[in-house]
Amino acid sequence: MQIAVVTGGANGMGRAYSIGLARAGFRVIAADIDEAALATLAVEARGENLAIEPMVMNVVNEADVNSGMQNILNRHNQIDVLVNNAGGAVANCRLAEMSLEQWQAHMTLNLTSQFLCIRAVLPSMSRRQRGSIINIASTSVSSGTTAALYVSDRPANLVAYVAAKGAVVAMTRTLARELGSDGIRVNAVSPGFTPTERVRATIAPEAITRMVDDQAFKRPQQPNDTVGAVVFLASPASRFMTGQNLSVDGGGSMGL
Ligand SMILES: NC(=O)c1ccc[n+]([C@@H]2O[C@H](COP(=O)([O-])OP(=O)(O)OC[C@H]3O[C@@H](n4cnc5c(N)ncnc54)[C@H](O)[C@@H]3O)[C@@H](O)[C@H]2O)c1
Repeated sequence: MQIAVVTGGANGMGRAYSIGLARAGFRVIAADIDEAALATLAVEARGENLAIEPMVMNVVNEADVNSGMQNILNRHNQIDVLVNNAGGAVANCRLAEMSLEQWQAHMTLNLTSQFLCIRAVLPSMSRRQRGSIINIASTSVSSGTTAALYVSDRPANLVAYVAAKGAVVAMTRTLARELGSDGIRVNAVSPGFTPTERVRATIAPEAITRMVDDQAFKRPQQPNDTVGAVVFLASPASRFMTGQNLSVDGGGSMGL
């Protein structure tokens, strides 16, 4: 059975990736800091007979990432797929008011975490000359977010977040070149605006309605909508694809 690691795999879209990959036949390690959500996911997985193992791992902590990935390798001998999904906006403030700590926190959670996880799985993937790395970015990289975010009296100011996600796309392309001769594929998936529980708590309801209006498909994106792209990039169906950035957004951005 192939082994897939999904970071931030206990909630939101990561949870959907964990379940989707397990349904596609992978043994999934859902790595997250939310222990309660991991426990709930484990119970649900057992109910559906899905091979999902919960793992507490903080992706911004180097020692935690190294020991967590080593633990997986000790138990399963291999990691075939890494989905770098953990991420998100850390603070909502305009650039002029942003502290250096807030800026760095965005970079650490959204970019450095992916570097740490990739570096920890590379020796094993290189040795086996195979592996698929899927970095979660965002369509906001090409669209610069959307005007809808600024319509209300609660605008979402996402400059640091989008800058970090842009770096994820750039890293994906460069790393694909670096790892091609090792047989390792590196691709990105960019979800469009997806009002998960966390997102709904931070964005004005009228902004959500306006964003849906901008899409070709007039309904809110759901976590499950992005699962197909992740499963595809994890599977041999995408074996000659690397360095790509797949947007899944109901036609909201139609960007690069
Ligand atoms: N929701 C959107 O509109 C949207 C759009 C584009 C891209 N994305 C990206 O998709 C990914 C998932 O987004 P979501 O909305 O499902 O997020 P979410 O907040 O619903 O879930 C994120 C998960 O990551 C976990 N997590 C957070 N920090 C962690 C850490 N340090 N170590 C390990 N786990 C950690 C959380 O516990 C949670 O389970 C993120 O990278 C996000 O930036 C989201």
